[in-house]
Amino acid sequence: MTGNREEFTVTPWEVRGEVNYERLVVEFGLTPLNKDLYERLTRLAGDTHKLLRRGVFFAHRDLDWLLDKYERGEMFYLYTGRGPSGHTHLGHMVPWFLTKWLQDRFGAKLYFQMTDDEKFLFKPELTLEKTRKYALDNALDVIALGFDPDKTKIFLDTDYIGFLYKIALQFAKKITFSTVRATFGLTESSNIGQIFFTSIQAAPAFIESIITGKNVPCLIPLAVDQDPHFRLARDVAPKLGFYKPAILHSKFLPSLSGGGKMSSSEAMSAIFTTDSPEEVRKKIWNAFTGGRPTIAEQREKGGNPDICPVFHYYAFIFEEDDRALGERRKRCLSGDLLCGECKEDLIKRVTNFLEEHQRKRERARDIVDKFLLRGEQTF
Ligand code: TYM
Repeated sequence: MTGNREEFTVTPWEVRGEVNYERLVVEFGLTPLNKDLYERLTRLAGDTHKLLRRGVFFAHRDLDWLLDKYERGEMFYLYTGRGPSGHTHLGHMVPWFLTKWLQDRFGAKLYFQMTDDEKFLFKPELTLEKTRKYALDNALDVIALGFDPDKTKIFLDTDYIGFLYKIALQFAKKITFSTVRATFGLTESSNIGQIFFTSIQAAPAFIESIITGKNVPCLIPLAVDQDPHFRLARDVAPKLGFYKPAILHSKFLPSLSGGGKMSSSEAMSAIFTTDSPEEVRKKIWNAFTGGRPTIAEQREKGGNPDICPVFHYYAFIFEEDDRALGERRKRCLSGDLLCGECKEDLIKRVTNFLEEHQRKRERARDIVDKFLLRGEQTF
């Protein structure tokens, strides 16, 4: 089982407990995103992104190699995705925000995979009709973020399998059941679709190489739970004559209920892009914080922003200005800023963001067809 000790577990299908990212770097064999590489990426992009600057994207695989290729004139493409098991929550959008920035700065194409097959196979209660419905719904969130319609393609696995299957088969032939079992913690009673699935998630990392007939570098922004798929894909890639995909790893936007990752199945732990202002208010008011049990104690001893999901919401998404974020942190630590004020301010920011996002989601319905790939279509 990957990243599994008594206190925390990180696999593509389960994130539990207080994640220790330093230990994940060691256990998964990641490379920390150090200052030199961060500065190089910033120089090539022409500016920086708060998710990089604040260490939310904390690790990588072969990003330095990808930038070497880029500097020598070999353009890369982007690949990321979503397992459509419900509505999109703000955590899912963390890797998409960075993907959008990378597309804007580097002019890169993006392939976006909707693994409706995965969620059907892994969630006993979901039908293919439901995962399809969620995939098309989640696609609106992706489009609403403003990805370039000329450079972005979204596909549902069950629509695009004609193209993906031939790539997936090549991978499947080189991966044994015992490797899949050890990597993902599957068991003798896992259904056989689950065993095969990783080869479908690997496939888009090679799609441009297949289409163009020559190796094209691929960069995959994701949160670290998805890394095990690409560890396998990277092992197999050279055996098939492909470049290994490069990866950029994000931490998790924490659950509003405290501890671990937010979860689609626990409504109060996450804010969904479809939530109403009333739901946002209720969820943020009920959130766990780094505050003290009484106001008097908080005034005296201060709060703890490092364990506070509300503070993380500001740091990951809702505060652009580093100085303002630093000031909020200082005021929390000193006991000057109480949780009520901090939550009230966040409610306003989240509500404004969602109001605008929901408008863009509605407009996306008119253009979603332009983004979707079916059958054997390519760009
Ligand atoms: P899924 O739907 O679980 O998650 C979509 C993306 O969001 C990331 N993520 C988070 N990031 C920050 N904070 C959180 N709380 C949080 N929760 C989830 C996930 O790591 C993921 O990047 N099998 C995949 C779909 C997929 C994919 C891909 C993802 C297909 N191909 C390539 C990344 C790259 C899935 O079920 O993701």
